Amino acid sequence: MANTSAPAGTTAAAHARILLISGSTREGSTNTAALRTARAVAPAEVTARLYDRLADLPAFNPDDDHEPLPPAAAELRREIAAADALVFCTPEYAGTLPGSFKNLLDWTVGGVEISGKPVAWINVAAEGRGEGAHEALATVLGYVGAAVIEPACRRIPLARLAVGPDGQVADRSFRAAVAGVLHAILGYLREAGQGGRAAQADSAGLPGRSAPAAGSPA
Ligand SMILES: Cc1cc2nc3c(=O)[nH]c(=O)nc-3n(C[C@H](O)[C@H](O)[C@H](O)COP(=O)(O)O)c2cc1C
Repeated sequence: MANTSAPAGTTAAAHARILLISGSTREGSTNTAALRTARAVAPAEVTARLYDRLADLPAFNPDDDHEPLPPAAAELRREIAAADALVFCTPEYAGTLPGSFKNLLDWTVGGVEISGKPVAWINVAAEGRGEGAHEALATVLGYVGAAVIEPACRRIPLARLAVGPDGQVADRSFRAAVAGVLHAILGYLREAGQGGRAAQADSAGLPGRSAPAAGSPA
């Protein structure tokens, strides 16, 4: 599918559309709560949208990776295309990414929408945990050629008890920290829109699509 959003790095960021993607399907998820909170504290220049169809995506099958795509996969690619930037927040399962979230990422490989797209992540795991998930995320983002905005990526630990009945986090320092992520993305988009550092976005120094690992799909 064609990328219908402004090419990454060309928006002047007078208004930025940021798609928030949680890697958890759990009802009381701390990762989703962090992103729900980010949506609530988004600056006026940001439209933050919380992606909520992770559990609806079919298991990725290369045989199905053609038009017409399964509806949920087509919608995912449309949402990514329409966003100026993405924010991921994922738990770690068994030392790596949850299968359902990796499945979402697999659906992005065959599309062009995520290539060059500015992305950031928030890690809400307790100190010293969640590293495996974020290393795996960095590998995938490098593979698909996403533009990781390193200064916007933050570790902001979040305890389950801090999530309120409204599914958000009331703690002021947490809210300020997630707002800081969105401000950092806005700052990046503004600089990029002014011919700034888009080309310097760090894709983690990992093999991108132009240099897939042996045996991996082109
Ligand atoms: C199947 C499973 C595997 C897990 N594996 C790990 C792990 O390898 N490392 C870790 O730090 N936490 C692990 N956890 C803990 C989760 O990362 C933690 O509960 C997290 O809060 C879940 O995110 P959520 O609140 O957004 O659902 C695991 C949890 C589950 C259910």
